Formats: sequence, structure tokens, C-alpha cells
Amino acid sequence: MCGIVGYIGHREAYPIIIKGLKRLEYRGYDSAGIALYDGADIKLSKTKGKVDDLEKRIASEISTTGSLGIGHTRWATHGIPNDINSHPHYSNSGDLVIIHNGIIENYEALKKELIQRGYSFKSDTDTEVLINLIEDIKKNENIKLGKAVQIALNQVIGAYAIAVFDKNKPNEIVVAKLGSPLAIGVGEDEFFIASDASPFIEYTKNAIYLEDEEIAVIRRHKDIKIRKIQDDSLVNPYVQELQMNLEEIEKGGYDHFMLKEIYEQPHAIKDTYRGRLLANKGIIKMAGIDDNIEKFQNASRIIVVACGTSWHAGLVAEYIFEDLARIPVEVEYASEFRYRNPVIHENDVVIAISQSGETADTLAAIKLAKSKGAFVFGVCNVVGSTIARETHAGAYTHAGPEIGVASTKAFTTQITVLTLIALKLAKAKGTISNEDYRLHLNELALIPEKVLEALKHDEHIKHIASIYKDAKNCLYLGRGFNFPVALEGALKLKEISYIHAEGYPAAEMKHGPIALIDENMPIIVIAPKKGHYEKVVSNIEEIKARQGKIIAVVTKGDTSVTNLADHTIEVPETLESLSPLVTTIPLQLLSYHIAVMLEKNVDQPRNLAKSVTVE
Ligand code: F6R
Repeated sequence: MCGIVGYIGHREAYPIIIKGLKRLEYRGYDSAGIALYDGADIKLSKTKGKVDDLEKRIASEISTTGSLGIGHTRWATHGIPNDINSHPHYSNSGDLVIIHNGIIENYEALKKELIQRGYSFKSDTDTEVLINLIEDIKKNENIKLGKAVQIALNQVIGAYAIAVFDKNKPNEIVVAKLGSPLAIGVGEDEFFIASDASPFIEYTKNAIYLEDEEIAVIRRHKDIKIRKIQDDSLVNPYVQELQMNLEEIEKGGYDHFMLKEIYEQPHAIKDTYRGRLLANKGIIKMAGIDDNIEKFQNASRIIVVACGTSWHAGLVAEYIFEDLARIPVEVEYASEFRYRNPVIHENDVVIAISQSGETADTLAAIKLAKSKGAFVFGVCNVVGSTIARETHAGAYTHAGPEIGVASTKAFTTQITVLTLIALKLAKAKGTISNEDYRLHLNELALIPEKVLEALKHDEHIKHIASIYKDAKNCLYLGRGFNFPVALEGALKLKEISYIHAEGYPAAEMKHGPIALIDENMPIIVIAPKKGHYEKVVSNIEEIKARQGKIIAVVTKGDTSVTNLADHTIEVPETLESLSPLVTTIPLQLLSYHIAVMLEKNVDQPRNLAKSVTVE
């Protein structure tokens, strides 16, 4: 995790870096810091807290002039979040300064050696070890900074995206990457460095994404030299043109990114199927599937690997793939899969789902599956992300940047992509009738409108939120396709409001959770008309008999559940297999409003980060 930003060129670096850090706060926000070269010396300021806190501190601490600088927003791994552990870190001489996203696993051994050689350390971080290792090599071998960084990185085990500069050579920044992302924006006589392109999108649309094990020396008024860290071979920089625009990464009048992203879903889902779903022609076009159709058709099973919300989308996919395409599916937490010596065959297809495309556990699971000969297909949102590049083929969700830490539009667009794949395979395998296939295509095309309709109940949901905002616990129940929606609803509430919540298959309630139910327990039941409706009604009766408070998500026009529940929230009717795309909307809004009413930081919940690039 952590976000890094840097600038070298003809403008003032400070405003670019501060704005960039704010855009990268989704990657971590427990501390922040900046180092600027003001023409004579390094000016460094850092603090525990958010970028806003850093700005306040800088105002009374340092001058902000200079056209070279680096900045960091942290999600702590080694060393608690405090001022000293914040980045940037100086080397012992004070000549070099570094920012780092990642983990140096062998830092303790390296630190011991450096201490023996007379180095001392102020912080508990692995990063301060790395900058002193670089300094040690540079001094001992009397070599340039780039070379010293390269030699140091060859001694390092772990993951990193780093930026380093030397106050005695204030016309260059050295950057390198392994495992953590690093983009270089290439402007007119200026360069930007960042964990993703959002900090520099208004300055340039030309970007170079460093590959793993590459180091780049970026020189003012000159060029970029990229080399492979291990064998020193020169790499031809590949400059790509970015499609992203500025509005996509700003709040656009909404109070929070999360709310904006919830409201973007009709549009985002349309963008996901645009050009792929040709409902009136009865065709689904997906190059990644078309080119590999045999792999999917001959697959003995599909293994889904993912984490968090993406894992929940994988669970929905399990129901859809098995129901429509009759392919056995296993859904695995990537973090478990990678360490449990799983049985993987060459005719398994692994689908890795990840919004960010950077999740360390998912990436490791992909590498494992590939090493066993499986075909790996990625479903990612961030274009050009590591997972998108590591997989054999894939399909982007095209949801646009998701900045709020709690995933919303990523979930529904992932389900949209996975549904398209399942329908395509069902058609290819002949496991779906023509009529049913056309019905699914037509219904899928209508989902954006139905999501829009579901969003219209926002005020009513806000009212329900005001009644239950002080609950200490919540239970979410759903069956079939809507069981994963219950898990996702509970996760949304937990992560942004810090209220304890559990998701359960409704029938499992009797096997334990029912003991929790009393008049203080709100229970959110997802009870659309299609899919085990009668059974869910019975579950609701059981809750009612124990005085639990029932908030039910029902199909428009419902009466049976409505008569029993304390509150109902209507969603439009759709096919059972597509219902998660609409039933999840009220749950997102409910969590959002509760968190806002509790005055929590909705977009940046405590202890979390958007992109989990450490295991
Ligand atoms: C929850 C959430 C996380 C992510 C998880 C995986 O709202 O955002 O649970 O879903 O960290 O992230 P990606 O999809 O980027 O691999």
C-alpha cells in the first residue's frame, strides 16, 4: 500500500505533490510527508495523520519552493504510524532521501550489517534501512545514485516502488519497482512519478508504467533511462496514452466518493457491457473469451480467486456459472489458496477478480496457478494493473476509477462481466435454451435502468438508517444468488460504520445466529420475489417470533414480506440470476447513510486502504 508522488521539471513541485497525495490517500492515510529541493537543500516535513494534517504542519515548518520533490501517504507495515516512521526518510548523511511503497522482507539482516558499519536509525521502518544501504554502497563504491540503488535492490527481498534523490545531484530522481505499481508521467520538459496516473492526469496523458525489476533514472531537461535491475540491460520506454479524465477522479458535487460511485452504477454497468452485449442481435462479444473459448469449454472446473468484495462477486459468479453454464466452480480466498497447496490441474481455468489489479494475495494466487499450468483469466478494473498484465487473458470492468475505499461499483460491474462470460459459455456449451439466453441478454440490458430505479429510494433508506444507526450488531440474510449479497451488505456496514455485522444464508440462521436475535437486533433480509421466496418468508416469520427488527429488500409490489417486515425497501423485478445487481444497491446506501450519521470517514475508513499490496 502507500501512495507515492514525485515531480521534476519547471513548475513548483509542492502543489502538484500535495494534490497528488490527496488523490492517492485511498492507498493509505495514516501518515504523510514531503521532501522538496529548494535550490540549496532538502526541506522535509512529515506527520502522523492525513495529507490535510501535513499541509497544516508544512505551513508552519518549511518553505515550499522548489521544482523537485517527492511525497508519500502511508499505510503502516513496519513501525506504528507516527511522525518518525512517516516517509520520506533521510540517509544518515542527510544527502539522500527516499519514499517507498512495499515491504523489505530482509530488512532486519540488512539493518544489523549497517549498524555494524556505524549506521544508526531513527525509525522502525524497513525503508530507512534501504536508504542507508543505498548510501553505504554509493560511498564505498564511489558510484552514481542510480547504480547504487540498483546494487542495493539486488540485495533486497520484498516488494517496492521507490523514489530517491540526492541533494548534491538535484537534477535527477531515481525510481524503481518490484511488486508495487509505479507510473511515470511524461510531460513537456517535466516528469511526474506516482503510484497511479491520477496525480498527473491534468498535466499529461502520456505515461510509462514501469515493469517489475526495472529502475529508471529521470533527469531534468533530459530523458529517462530505464534498465533491468538484475542484468542492467537497457529497456525501451513504452509511452502509452491514458484514457482517464479529470472529472472521473473528482467528487462531482457529491459529499463523498462512495456516494458518487454508488450513483454511477447505472452508467458504469452500461460501460461494462457496452460493445459486448448486443442484445437485439443475441450476441455477446468478448475478445478475451472468444480467443480462448476452448480453454473455457474444456475446463473441468473454474476456480475463482479474489479477496473481500471481489470474492463476494466471485461467489455470485459461482451461482451464475453453475446455473447457466453447468461448470463446477470453486471460490477461494486468494490468501488461503496461495498457502494451502491446492490441487490445480492444467485443464482448470482460474478467474482472478480484482478491482485494483494490485492485491498481493490475488497476485500470488495467480502466480501459483500459472506455475501449475492452469489458464488464468483476469477480471480487473484498473487498466494496465499488475494482475491485468500477469493473467493470460482477461476482461476489464470499465467501471472508471473507484476512489472510495468501500467497493461499490466495482462489485456490480464485476458481476456484470462474470454474467456475460457465463452466458457466453452457456451458449457455447448448449446448456441454455435459445429463449432463456435471449431473455437473459434482454434483461441484462435493462439492468442500468433498474439500478437507477432502485437508487430512487435513497431518502427512504436514509430514514431507515436514522432509526438503526445506533445498533451495535446487524444480521444480513439472503438465499441463493442473494446469499453473497448478504455477505457484501454486512461487509459494507462493518467497514465504514464500524458496526459489527454478519452475513448468513437465511436458512443457516437456525444453526446458531438465531440465538442473537432479540428486540434490539436489526436483521436485513434480502427477499426478492424470485428465488426461494416462500422459504425466506418462513425465515422472516421465525425472526418476527423472536422480536427481531426486520428491514427487507423486496420486489416492487410485494405484499407477503411487506406485511411482516418493520421496513421494506423496494427494488424492481428482474431475473433471479441478475437480482444481486439491484438488491445490493439499497444495502450500499444503508451503510453509507449510517456511516455519515455516525460521522465516520466514509471514503477513508480507519485501518483500511483501497489497494492491499501487502499480504
Ligand atoms: C471492500 C473492499 C475490499 C476489496 C479487497 C480486494 O469494500 O474494497 O474488501 O474488495 O481488498 O480488492 P481488489 O478488488 O482491488 O483486489
